[in-house]
Amino acid sequence: MKQSAKKITAALLCMTMAAAFAGCGDYSEPAATTPDSTPTAESKNEEAPKEEAKDEAKTVGIAMPTKSLERWNRDGEYLKQQFEDAGYQVELKYSDNDTNQQNNDIQGMIADGVDLLLIVAIDGNALTQTLDDAKGANIPVIAYDRLIMNSDAVSYYVSFDNYTVGKLQGEFVRDQLKLDSEAGPFNIEFTAGDPADNNAGYFFNGAYDTLKEYIDSEKLVIPSGKKTFEQVATEGWSTDKALENMQNTLASYYSDGTVLDVALCSNDSTALGVAQAITSDYAGTNTPIVTGQDGDIANLRNIVDGIQTMTVYKNVSDEASVTLEVSKAILAGNTPDAGLLSSLSAEASYDTESYNNGVKNVPSYLLVPYVITKDSLQRLVDTGLYKWDSENKYLESTASTT
Ligand code: GAL
Repeated sequence: MKQSAKKITAALLCMTMAAAFAGCGDYSEPAATTPDSTPTAESKNEEAPKEEAKDEAKTVGIAMPTKSLERWNRDGEYLKQQFEDAGYQVELKYSDNDTNQQNNDIQGMIADGVDLLLIVAIDGNALTQTLDDAKGANIPVIAYDRLIMNSDAVSYYVSFDNYTVGKLQGEFVRDQLKLDSEAGPFNIEFTAGDPADNNAGYFFNGAYDTLKEYIDSEKLVIPSGKKTFEQVATEGWSTDKALENMQNTLASYYSDGTVLDVALCSNDSTALGVAQAITSDYAGTNTPIVTGQDGDIANLRNIVDGIQTMTVYKNVSDEASVTLEVSKAILAGNTPDAGLLSSLSAEASYDTESYNNGVKNVPSYLLVPYVITKDSLQRLVDTGLYKWDSENKYLESTASTT
């Protein structure tokens, strides 16, 4: 019961977020649309007075990194909708992947007197002074998805088990290549994320640690020799930079006919560029395994077309629902702990030890990521955030065509 009610709610929320998820880098403000179907019992409930929201006048400031990466459009609009439905006001800012701008935007929210800040840091190390100011103004801070470093003003962290994201990618490669039984050797190249994003190291390490024994035994070979995070990081998680880096790698190490078996990419924005480089610049006739993360629409298309092999999915609606509950508790003057999870259907754990931001252990709610391949795309549809297109071939956002 709970599960299906949640799915219906997710679908309805999505329908009101028209155009927001339409595509990477193609964000526009959501149009005010109404579902054209007859209201169901559930949708009537959605419109009923929000008895749960005890602090109707309270405002939540949401600081997102950029509209140029698809997932933050999805998260930003989804969170905004959830908070507004719960009776809160929302100030939502995107800061163009520019750290100074994000500091200014958050300072603006502090000046506006928001009651709570939800922040996805562009640079996890660059918000210390601003968060001191938030603390001075008694505004609690939740680090959303990315941990904010060097600040005691961070009250909670809501994210996924990000090391597991990388581990799932590594295990996928191990299983696809049958590394425990095949002789190999196989060739692999890594593409990691933005060094300023605290998550990026977790993703890379999770994948690398899983594959290390095969790299050490030379069953997996890295022809470029680029095996450290620093060597394979991609500033800003940029698709264009990932494309350029892969083109350079292919030109330098694969133009002699060397076979590329795997391009292990930490997320979908980088996988998009890497897959493009392979399509245009790779001379081999095999189809390399390409990993990703996020379930971005263009990447799901590539998965259907066989250009990308998998993506690790982190359910936005689960991340948002945990965040909403944590926020409600804080705004009601309570101290959220593990007990908060008992009322939620999302699979998550509460961890007060693993995420130290350099100043304190930040109490963390960690959700569980999972692998999506061509054969399991329906699982995304089941979240309510995606639907099949009219040909039943590719996935679309449920918000993009209403
Ligand atoms: C990470 C996030 C990933 C990915 C990346 C680029 O922090 O956890 O899901 O989207 O940023 O936006």
